[in-house]
Amino acid sequence: MYTATARSCSNIAFIKYWGNRNDTLRLPANGSISMNLSGLETVTTVRFSEELTSDTLSLNGQSQTGEALRRASRHLDHIRHLAGVNLHAEVVSHNNFPTGAGIASSASAFAALTVASCAALGLDLAERELSALARLGSGSACRSVPGGYVEWYSGEDHASSYAETIAPPDHWELLDLVTIVSGEHKAIGSTSGHSLASTSPLQTARVEDTPRRLKQCRDAILRRDFELLAEVIEQDALMMHAVMMTSHPPLLYWLPATLQLIQLIRRWRADGIPACFTIDAGPNVHVITLPPHHEQLEQLLRQVDGVQTVLTASPGGPACLVSNPAE
Ligand code: DP6
Repeated sequence: MYTATARSCSNIAFIKYWGNRNDTLRLPANGSISMNLSGLETVTTVRFSEELTSDTLSLNGQSQTGEALRRASRHLDHIRHLAGVNLHAEVVSHNNFPTGAGIASSASAFAALTVASCAALGLDLAERELSALARLGSGSACRSVPGGYVEWYSGEDHASSYAETIAPPDHWELLDLVTIVSGEHKAIGSTSGHSLASTSPLQTARVEDTPRRLKQCRDAILRRDFELLAEVIEQDALMMHAVMMTSHPPLLYWLPATLQLIQLIRRWRADGIPACFTIDAGPNVHVITLPPHHEQLEQLLRQVDGVQTVLTASPGGPACLVSNPAE
């Protein structure tokens, strides 16, 4: 009765979330659009029990303490409060993507934790309510609850800030070649980064221009227009990094290989290969492309100095319950 397992994909933002209007509720400064990443997944089992004297969290077989556990516990508190229960929980979570590959796991982690915990406590919520709840744990997690291509509406309050599917996974077979140039843990993670966004004089302009970029990105996805998509996602990523670089203190996530990849990807696109880039809060480059070009592109990427590995992900489905966790 009090246990459930859920699986969720990570996601890559095409229009980025950077900065909050409300840090506690994680109401974002602007709306965002992303694609779920099939194959980069978290599976989480939650068990609530009267026998437990505190919450516990195991991640990839390692028992967690400190901030990771506190953050999961705070999230469980929201769900316990909704369900009107006071039970502690044992959370066992596995990522199928290599840890230390520099892939953000908070999106898939909090989406899976939300869906599993709600099911374990018998809360029957609509997808948008699950999405809004996941947002409280990590902003980008709200985009991992629905499937495929997803838009997160910035909203006015808790209930109106949620994400929904704008196109299903099979609408367009974009591929994300996640090009790893460093697996090191970030010195400044997203949560601290969001609170610096407003210290950059460029953030106001970035936020004000967001409706235009959201529309262009939405149109590009709905029309399957790669050139239009390439233009807007590269501009959006560079605008976010411009804000990061001009924050106080400044955040400069790029390595030499990051810039090298940006230049090469633009050259390859000019030569006729559908390829464009986006970059999150780190030095790794997400290379967005279309089949059948991904194999040639992967070869090219692997030859670039500083590239450690390339992981490939296609559009992924929604977070869902797993009836047989052994599967
Ligand atoms: C650069 O969702 O990781 O990846 O809400 O503090 O957990 P928290 O932040 P998070 O921020 C994601 C930032 C980003 C852009 C994006 O995914 O939209």
